[in-house]
Amino acid sequence: MTRPVPPPTLSLVLPTYNERANLPPVIARLIRCLEATGASFEIVVVDDDSPDRTWELAEALGAEDPRIRVVRRRGERGLATAVVAGWRHARGRVLGVMDADLQYRPESLPAMLRALDDPGVDIAIGSRYAPGATVQEWSARRWAISLCARLLARVALPEALGAVLDPGAGYFLMRRRVIEGIELQPQGFKILIEVLARGRYAGVVEVGQQYEGRREGESKLRGRQITEYLSQLLDLSRATHELRRSVAYAVAGGSGVAAHLGLLAALTEGLHWPILAAGALAAEVAIIITFAWREILGTGYAGAPPGGAMSRLAHWHRRRVPGGVLGLATLWILAEWLGVPYLRGAVVAVTVNVLVNYGGGARLRQPRPVRALAPLPSVAPSSMPMN
Ligand code: GDD
Ligand code: MN
Repeated sequence: MTRPVPPPTLSLVLPTYNERANLPPVIARLIRCLEATGASFEIVVVDDDSPDRTWELAEALGAEDPRIRVVRRRGERGLATAVVAGWRHARGRVLGVMDADLQYRPESLPAMLRALDDPGVDIAIGSRYAPGATVQEWSARRWAISLCARLLARVALPEALGAVLDPGAGYFLMRRRVIEGIELQPQGFKILIEVLARGRYAGVVEVGQQYEGRREGESKLRGRQITEYLSQLLDLSRATHELRRSVAYAVAGGSGVAAHLGLLAALTEGLHWPILAAGALAAEVAIIITFAWREILGTGYAGAPPGGAMSRLAHWHRRRVPGGVLGLATLWILAEWLGVPYLRGAVVAVTVNVLVNYGGGARLRQPRPVRALAPLPSVAPSSMPMN
């Protein structure tokens, strides 16, 4: 019988599918640098019954070292669900995951753990896009996919992910309480997004990583993961009510733009108002209409002052005036000086107006803050036995 072991500080999940060549060195390097920190740990390998029998190899390693535990899933596939399955078996106060293919350097783990020494930090992300991070050997295609994925994440979940540089990271640590009692619904490849959208946390830091090319085995990322990603974003956007807020903002903004253009056309065309007067009135009405929609839909806006509707309206105005004035100037220059037909000019002017509104700091949504850390010094891997 084995003696009961106290729960370790860290439980790191290694998801594997056909990683026979990578598993022994990744585990050896992890153990080496974790032992140097003095922290207690367990490594939970979750293998989906790999055809190359990675699970068998993992079990052999686990037989030698009780800190290595193995979950062999049969009849089930999927990176995100595998990671959650691993956390279910994990006993550590800190839960984490790292791709098992050596694209992340195991030696960066102590620095990631240290980031959680700060009691204000609940999640530390191993980031490929934080300052100082490097990404090796990526095709232009892979870059483009990654960029689109990050942009989509921001659009779908502007509050949860708006400030996260690498929401798709396959490497992060978090305090157990972030997901304790929370029902994650993992799908696809992106487990971090699930945690950031549904988890309970305050501080997040991103720690820059040196992300390397794969030397052994191959990526399991396929077209299917892209559709899974889209459906995951939509589900999370709904579940967190961010979708509802986005629609409300679109209704408010869209009706403002429609009122702006419609009124401008009616005043100039129908009533033969001078273009500046028509433009000014149309801009003013648009400001009030978007404000009214927001009050009705209860969305408010980031940075709204405390107090009643009148003080909010005054504040809203102050923020919208620069955009309105620049839009009006654009309209005047285009229509009066350059002879552009006024409706075409008005479309450009309204675009300028909207861009200034949202570019000029008047953010609709306040993203949850994230701190980015440059890569921290890590243990040298040079004398690794199995590298
Ligand atoms: N158990 C299990 N089941 N593990 C899996 C599965 C699966 O179905 N699919 C992949 N893995 C394991 C791999 O063996 C590897 O250890 C890790 O998950 C990452 O998979 P890769 O196949 O190497 O994916 P990638 O490098 O193309 O993309 C991954 O890394 C990126 C950066 O971290 C994904 O996690 C991306 O979402 C991520 O952006
Ligand atoms: Mn990989």
